[in-house]
Amino acid sequence: MCGIVGYVGPKVATPLLLDGLKRLEYRGYDSAGVAIMNGAGVKTVKEAGKIAKLESLLALTPVEGTTGIAHTRWATHGPPNQVNAHPHMSQDGTIAVVHNGIIENATVLKQMLEGRGYVFTSDTDTEVLAHLIEECFDGNLEDAVLEALWQVEGTYGIAVISSVDSHKIVAARKGSPLLLGLGDKENFIASDVSAILSHTRQVIYLEDGEMAVLDEAGYRVIDMNAVEIQKKVAHIDWDLAQIERGGYAHFMLKEIFEQPQTVENTMRGRLLDDEGTSKLGGLNLSDEELLSFTNIVITACGTSWHSALIGEHMLEELARIPVEVEYASEFRYRNPVVDSKTLCIVISQSGETADTLAAMREAKRRGARTLGLVNVVGSTIAREADGGIYLHAGPEIGVASTKAFTSQVVALLLFTLKLGRLRGALSQQRGSEIIAGMRALPGQIRQVLERAQEIEDIAEEYKRASNFLYLGRGYNFPVALEGALKLKEISYIHAEGYPAAEMKHGPIALIDEMMPVVFIAPHDSVFEKITSNVHEVKARKGRVIAVTSRDESALDGMLDYEFRIPETIDLLMPVLASVPLQLLAYYVAVKRGANVDQPRNLAKSVTVE
Ligand code: M6R
Repeated sequence: MCGIVGYVGPKVATPLLLDGLKRLEYRGYDSAGVAIMNGAGVKTVKEAGKIAKLESLLALTPVEGTTGIAHTRWATHGPPNQVNAHPHMSQDGTIAVVHNGIIENATVLKQMLEGRGYVFTSDTDTEVLAHLIEECFDGNLEDAVLEALWQVEGTYGIAVISSVDSHKIVAARKGSPLLLGLGDKENFIASDVSAILSHTRQVIYLEDGEMAVLDEAGYRVIDMNAVEIQKKVAHIDWDLAQIERGGYAHFMLKEIFEQPQTVENTMRGRLLDDEGTSKLGGLNLSDEELLSFTNIVITACGTSWHSALIGEHMLEELARIPVEVEYASEFRYRNPVVDSKTLCIVISQSGETADTLAAMREAKRRGARTLGLVNVVGSTIAREADGGIYLHAGPEIGVASTKAFTSQVVALLLFTLKLGRLRGALSQQRGSEIIAGMRALPGQIRQVLERAQEIEDIAEEYKRASNFLYLGRGYNFPVALEGALKLKEISYIHAEGYPAAEMKHGPIALIDEMMPVVFIAPHDSVFEKITSNVHEVKARKGRVIAVTSRDESALDGMLDYEFRIPETIDLLMPVLASVPLQLLAYYVAVKRGANVDQPRNLAKSVTVE
């Protein structure tokens, strides 16, 4: 979603803020702006479009000053234009605010402020905050922000500067991530660690209801009653190279090619080959507690929801425990059957997805124990879950999730091994066989990647298609969903994933010679079944692209294109089969001239409901 970065220290702020914004651009990117405190007051420069446009504007009209805040926007209220871009200024021009989140009572507050003579110039809810802070201001910025926030309903991560109470940044959080970066006689505020990683690795995560006041000399964190809070400083060990493209044309391509390593990292030190199980240090659950659960609910959004479907299949097969998979966005608006006997697994790459976080909190309220499968270390879901399994996939910058997905599947399997063995549903021998399969995965992914050119050729053939169908069965039905999601989000081609056998209940009506149908058809326990579905498509002149794993006479003459992946056990097929589908989406999108890392309307981390 939107990104925030702020700097207070001895250096000229603009280049630092621009660098931070560029690193945040993947979060949201319809407009951007900076507010810098210089001798003459607070000066803002904003522009619609990409950060590069703001950079050009700042090159023409440089702003000096050593305290500043900046923002990259993903529109919620009002179109993405220059006026609606952040920062927003108070009416008297002394206070600048950047904001992530949604002020739910903005209309009421706006009416109240208009009644007191404030004139609004933008369509945003954030402008309400700027005027409200001015209304509360009596010489001390943190007091004014505190007083204003008491009147606000909704979610926010904000950073505020004032030319009257100058050389400080006041920041506050409720529902939108924010962290402090601690430097040597300089300090930072950011919504995401990548914005400040080139300057410091020492960070403090703000929790909901906390406010920070930063200046050159240090920082203070207080609660909403102005009571000081002692915070722990965390050390970030991500490497800077991990958040750079490193010679690849796009982050997405880099991340696809990182998968041999990231899958290895997810497994590292966690497999007990001889015992056929796994060792997971962060669960915070004793074996007795793990055995006490009667059911599991997995909740997530988007790609993470697809991995949850694979997890459901694994857990029910190998641990023999009932599992429900829930869209996080729907979960708390029903009356789900969740109680203290329920284990709620929450899957999120970012650990900040608003719907997923809310679902986790709802599950907790109902008494469930929560386990976070999260990639971003220190993220809100990781901190608030009772226990967890980090993916260790490294920063994922491409908006289309790739390496996080394969690591999620592997992490779910690690947990399944543990629970299956504990519950006596999984034999040591079968567990060890699965682990042998897992150990082979990185090398097998490498083999798939070595043949990326074959996928590029298929992409060339189908790049002008208007629709795609993706069909799979069993463990590969979620792979079909994921393949379709990848294609639509970055190439803007309409694509649908379906369980292959469901096709004849409706989507078959769409099939003609113009319809490419991607079958995920490796040699597994449902191979024969899916063969019939391939024949059904071919009989209607559909164009068949199949991901297979061996030479199959049953498919002779049926396939327009075939991509062979290495053989593995059924439950590991999703990891191998998803890689060519990621590549297919990538190459089709590139050939259509789409901006793969910044697809239109999307944001990497969806921190509003
Ligand atoms: O960070 P999360 O895993 O919670 O994100 C969930 C979805 O927003 C995310 O997977 C989204 O669907 C991606 N754009 C998919 O590529």
